[in-house]
Amino acid sequence: MAKIKLGVIFGGISAEHDVSVISGTSVIRNLNKEKYDIYPIFISKKGEWFNCKAIDSKIVIGEEIKSTEKIENICETLKNLDVVFPVLHGLGGEDGSLQGMLELFNIPYVGCKILGSSICMDKVYTKIIFEKANILQAEYVYIRKNNDDYMYVEKDFSEEKYNIFEVIQKIIEKLEFPMFVKPSNSGSSVGINKANNAEELKEFIEHASVFDNKILIEENINGREIECAVLGNEEVETSVLGEIIPADKFYSYNAKYNNKESKTIMPAEISEELSNKIRNIAKRAYKATDCKGLARVDFFVDEKQDKIYINEINTLPGFTDISMYPKLWEKTGLSYSDLLDKLIELAL
Ligand SMILES: Nc1ncnc2c1ncn2[C@@H]1O[C@H](COP(=O)(O)OP(=O)(O)O)[C@@H](O)[C@H]1O
Ligand SMILES: [Mg+2]
Repeated sequence: MAKIKLGVIFGGISAEHDVSVISGTSVIRNLNKEKYDIYPIFISKKGEWFNCKAIDSKIVIGEEIKSTEKIENICETLKNLDVVFPVLHGLGGEDGSLQGMLELFNIPYVGCKILGSSICMDKVYTKIIFEKANILQAEYVYIRKNNDDYMYVEKDFSEEKYNIFEVIQKIIEKLEFPMFVKPSNSGSSVGINKANNAEELKEFIEHASVFDNKILIEENINGREIECAVLGNEEVETSVLGEIIPADKFYSYNAKYNNKESKTIMPAEISEELSNKIRNIAKRAYKATDCKGLARVDFFVDEKQDKIYINEINTLPGFTDISMYPKLWEKTGLSYSDLLDKLIELAL
């Protein structure tokens, strides 16, 4: 049988470029070379596309990709492929834009389509869908920065203009400290902070607005961080659960990628009853946000109060050898290579 021509795209213009390089090269190393002709495609931080040689050795974070040849005609390169696996995190890869380009070129690809990708990339819109689906989550408000003004957006989408001090008062009327401040479009905890008082709230809103003009502010949830891997198009399967024990006050960028003290426990030590409840919510959230192929659904679980809060959905979760998504499937009985085969099958 002829081999499948598979493009693996990694790197990208988002703040998660370096993580994507590790994920992408990990995917390439774990693919069955008998089955696939692999075309590694690297996108630089500036957004230039390069063909590169298959990468067999492990890449360390921040390492540059060598042996590349600039792609002059992206369309032509893509049209030569049977299927694409975009191993890109964040804007320009996980947000529906690349998915839209692949749709236009009529090329099958792994993962969520335009709608699911863009909903899940935008934390505010994800929360609006979760609300509609009656899934418990942290209370929130959101604002939009417009030049020096802040628009406070009500649940019915009516909005009012405030200065920074007024908008902080509005937020404090709605939510209690500590609060989480997040750029609506973000990932890898970039631009996210926990504010303990009005002064910090101001500082963190201004910081978040560097990354996105839409800013989400959430109540703090005290709970265990539990994650579930989901796989499928129509028929959807869920993995055993994993738990994150961040080494920092929360799972910040530093705790995620630099602090070796952050731990993951797989499967999470959690009762079967609770685990089943979480897996069911994960499935429902996946369907509600129009996910296809794969996603990792993240929760906060407050056992004392017997409450399961959904946090977010990652449509292109980390794919390094030690990443939660492939590891959870391994613990559920599906090896990394078999998982990749399954994802490509779902795409085709
Ligand atoms: N409402 C919240 N309550 C408690 N911790 C939170 C809350 N929101 C986020 N966090 C912490 O911040 C981390 C990053 O936030 P998250 O919304 O998952 O953003 P990202 O998309 O960057 O992963 C979470 O893993 C968690 O540790
Ligand atoms: Mg997260």
